[in-house]
Amino acid sequence: MEYIKSKDIFVLMRNTLRLIHPRLMDHGSRVAYMVYKMLEEKGIYEEFELADIVMVATLHDIGAYKTEAGMLNDMLRYESRDSRAHTIYGYLFFKYLSPVEDLAKVIMYHHMDYEQLRKMDYAYKDIAAYINIAEKMDIYFSAMGSQFNMQMFHKQAGTRLSEEGLNRFYEVAKKYDIFTKLKTGEYKEELENIIDYMIFSNEGKKKFLEMLMYCTGFRSEQSVVDSITTIHICEKLAGRLTMTEDMKEKLYYGALLHDIGMLAIPKEIVEMPRKLNSDEIKKVRLHVNAAEKVLGNMLREDVLSIVLGHHERGDGSGYPKRLRAQQMGSEQKVLQVADSVTGMTNKRAYREPLPREKVIENLSEEASLDRLDRQIVNTFINSYDDIMQSVQTESAEVMKMYQMLNSQYALVSKRFKM
Ligand SMILES: [Fe+2]
Ligand SMILES: [Fe+2]
Ligand SMILES: [Fe+2]
Repeated sequence: MEYIKSKDIFVLMRNTLRLIHPRLMDHGSRVAYMVYKMLEEKGIYEEFELADIVMVATLHDIGAYKTEAGMLNDMLRYESRDSRAHTIYGYLFFKYLSPVEDLAKVIMYHHMDYEQLRKMDYAYKDIAAYINIAEKMDIYFSAMGSQFNMQMFHKQAGTRLSEEGLNRFYEVAKKYDIFTKLKTGEYKEELENIIDYMIFSNEGKKKFLEMLMYCTGFRSEQSVVDSITTIHICEKLAGRLTMTEDMKEKLYYGALLHDIGMLAIPKEIVEMPRKLNSDEIKKVRLHVNAAEKVLGNMLREDVLSIVLGHHERGDGSGYPKRLRAQQMGSEQKVLQVADSVTGMTNKRAYREPLPREKVIENLSEEASLDRLDRQIVNTFINSYDDIMQSVQTESAEVMKMYQMLNSQYALVSKRFKM
């Protein structure tokens, strides 16, 4: 069953990352467009290959969300002076978390001097060389306006930049009037046409959506831990309740994406080391609205309603729609219980995890007030130890990958003194 189209997965990623910082994604789109035109002219890739390349080129700076969190407005700085951190993190992120790991090195190499790059034994090194050229063109064209001259980098031909790439760029820039299209935004339409060729298998889609969940780690690593815990609690509960395979799958996607809107919430609030005041709580609550904005029209309605309902409560005291129990399905109710349990059993910046007795007490109270579903809460309490034990084991397994990625990055960055 198709919950989301291949193309929409990409659009969703782009829109979600725009929540953190729109300029970085717009830079990515313009770079992707230039690279696409250069490669199209070169004529060695099929449309569906170009579509994949457009995706990676759009996300070429994805590592900067992590490594340059406070400096995203200063694109010139991280792109020209300290470029290594974001290329390495982006590479690791793509290598371990995306279904297109063979393109990951494009990201690693996109700032490498051509003299060095040409010696690499890597099938897609030309794409990295093209991105390097396109991103310089974009940054300097955006910064210099009418002072800009695309030949200004020609003294780097054959040393820092690929000469073939530069010549290819001059050719297409003239032929397709690229700079005018970048300025007017006309390029977007052409880019959308090639994105139509994106085809991911069901496994590939799943991996991309998981990668999107890991993007919440750009805001706070605890978000990733929480999401993984919630997904596993949902799975355990679904196995104990009578749910069809189809319901289980919907619940999985709902749980995977339920807090994606947190990317729109300022980092200071997400990681606040104390309890939030009422003003801050209001802001955090907007993560559901943010999720609706990016996921609406992309995700099938029944999965979307699971995501958007995770803070609703059966007695109408939840948000944002104050739905009542009879207006909600069991997938929504399971996610509500799983999300509450996660909130209590995981560490918060201002407190340690709550003890078992307290968790059970809180859940029972919520159930007696009909805020959480009684049957689901009882199912959880009856198998508390079993569920939490296997959740812990399975989450640890998945978290290993994510932590390895972060520690590998820490290691490499220390070696390069970044
Ligand atoms: Fe870059
Ligand atoms: Fe860039
Ligand atoms: Fe939430």
